[in-house]
Amino acid sequence: MSRQILVTSALPYANGALHMGHMLEYIQTDIWVRYQRLAGNQCQWVWADDGHGTPIMLKAEAEGITPLELITRCKAEHERDIAGFLLSPDNFHTTHSDENREMAELIYTRLRDAGHIVKRTIKQLYDAEKAMFLPDRFVKGICPNCDTPDQYGDNCEKCSATYEATELKEPISQVSGTTPELRDSEQYFFALSKFNDMLSSWTASGTLQPEVANKLKEWLESGLQDWDISRNAPYWGFEIPDAPGKYFYVWLDAPIGYMASHKNLAARTGENWEESWKEGSNVELYHFIGKDITNFHCLFWPAMLEGAGFRKPTGVFCHGFLTIDNLKMSKSRGTSITIETWLKHLKPEYLRYYFASKLTGSVVDMNMNFEDFTTRCNADLVGKVVNIASRCAGFITKKFDGKLSEEYPANSLHDYEVFTSAKQIIGEYYEQREYGKAMREIMILAEHANTYINDAEPWVKIKDPDKAAEVQAICTIGLNYFRAIVTYLSPVLPDITAKTEQFLNTSLTLEGLEQPLVNHTINAYKPMMTRVETSQVDKILEETLANAPAEPVAASTPDIEPLKPEIEIDDFNKVDLRVAVIVDAQAVEGADKLVELTLDIGIEKRTVFAGIKAAYKPEDLIGRSTVMVANLKPRKMRFGLSSGMVLAAGPGGSDIFILTPDDGASAGMRVK
Ligand code: MSP
Ligand code: ZN
Repeated sequence: MSRQILVTSALPYANGALHMGHMLEYIQTDIWVRYQRLAGNQCQWVWADDGHGTPIMLKAEAEGITPLELITRCKAEHERDIAGFLLSPDNFHTTHSDENREMAELIYTRLRDAGHIVKRTIKQLYDAEKAMFLPDRFVKGICPNCDTPDQYGDNCEKCSATYEATELKEPISQVSGTTPELRDSEQYFFALSKFNDMLSSWTASGTLQPEVANKLKEWLESGLQDWDISRNAPYWGFEIPDAPGKYFYVWLDAPIGYMASHKNLAARTGENWEESWKEGSNVELYHFIGKDITNFHCLFWPAMLEGAGFRKPTGVFCHGFLTIDNLKMSKSRGTSITIETWLKHLKPEYLRYYFASKLTGSVVDMNMNFEDFTTRCNADLVGKVVNIASRCAGFITKKFDGKLSEEYPANSLHDYEVFTSAKQIIGEYYEQREYGKAMREIMILAEHANTYINDAEPWVKIKDPDKAAEVQAICTIGLNYFRAIVTYLSPVLPDITAKTEQFLNTSLTLEGLEQPLVNHTINAYKPMMTRVETSQVDKILEETLANAPAEPVAASTPDIEPLKPEIEIDDFNKVDLRVAVIVDAQAVEGADKLVELTLDIGIEKRTVFAGIKAAYKPEDLIGRSTVMVANLKPRKMRFGLSSGMVLAAGPGGSDIFILTPDDGASAGMRVK
């Protein structure tokens, strides 16, 4: 009986291009799925774009389009890249779909009805300028644990501490640059703590890699916290059915997208998809994910499934991160090579093979070095594999009318068996995701094949008319080796496989290898793969650097304002500018942006309210000199009378810089 297997890969966010880091996971998945199909199992890969969440909302806003327009465009780009890299999902859907809304509502309702949803009022950081509650990743500040500045609101890159955004010291909103305030907010929590025992045994039951299980054990032993699954408007996602103005947090409906994609696929195939998700189903379910999203898949998701009466995954396959020459590929820093750029200069199979040759079943990171990449592809794929075919094909086509020997040379059958019996170990390595080991086994076979041809010297023997049959036999053996090697590589190299099937005039299957190909006509050989040239790699790197936005991406260059109309010198002379010393500075109670300044201009003291609180701590301003407009008509403000104006440069928020005269300028001096 063949196995029934359902596979997923993590759903890429529909707000940007797929890059090589993504491709590490998707190639890993594709190789596994293709191997399962080659091994005769029923294996479906359901997949989608992740179409919800704040980053998508903000990116769309920045581009001046709707979130729906953004995710529609990204999905089309992702589909192009998926096809370009020869990935073979059975379905690529989106989480912003009717199926997913229906499934998310179903799961939420079941959890709620089972008493797993609790309401709680919590304090959250609120950006008053943007009128929104701030997600963790949209706040930066000083780590409460080690005092490293510029850390996100969920964890510290320096000391790895995890904390609440509200614990950050000196938080700054990444959306507006202002200091957020604390506000009360009612949220919906999934009672994850109730699943602590179930998860302790599930994570330890062999479903996870040992290193992942160990890591989670620490968490589980210290006790899980309930999980906030709601977000306040404005939010881009599904509104919670019984809570107007509250939305499902993107990570609630994202994994449900796996089910929704399956449901969407079933509408085409007519299969009974629900059967696969029932408790006790005999369909195996595996999730391929990166290490950064372990908690979501190994804690939250199985608990949600259990709580809503669905089956849990059979396994979660977690991989490490891709770095390029030790430079961590960051989603925000623009150092990643996009799939679009790659495909302009190099075929996908080089990267598919390179990743395969380095992948293991564990969670270690993978570094990519481009010299290593070039050498590996040229030595293995071009030098060892394709070479076998090109060395044998010509003789068969030119001298034997494309026909292989009638029978396989009897004294070589034993050697052929070495090739067929390798199927066992190579298959086990694929199954365990030890692709690097599988590739090494296959390359040993390729070396063996090349040694055989070198020693047999068909190019010498062909000159002797008496040895024609021997040459035909040598080439028949060589091409049978080639056939086995490409069959084993077929999960990795779909295009070479298709070309080989055309060339050998047969389809490549594992069972097919049991009988060597003899008494069979093949087609003329056409070159299958060329060497990777350094210039192609250089172009990829150049194009990537040229497209990289100046970092950090979040801080965009302020718009330069246009010049005002010309004025006469007399107009300018009307403005009385004075050097002012800030003798006192106080925050203004009830005003988020204002600082109350007391300014000494020699003749007198002035009170001025300035909108500079996001940029300066009041106490840091005391003692500084600046420049003020001293004859501006006093203005009555909500907090008092403002007599004058301080000069500052910049668009506002935290991007504002008060002007400072050089040392020696003293209070009251006229500025002209
Ligand atoms: N949308 C979520 C996943 C939801 S799954 C229900 C997400 N998206 S992502 O686009 O940020 O990442 C998608 C996958 O790509 C994740 O598994 C992530 O780990 C993986 N990778 C992203 N960058 C990567 C590297 N540099 N290296 C390896 N994998 C990386 O997370
Ligand atoms: Zn820290």
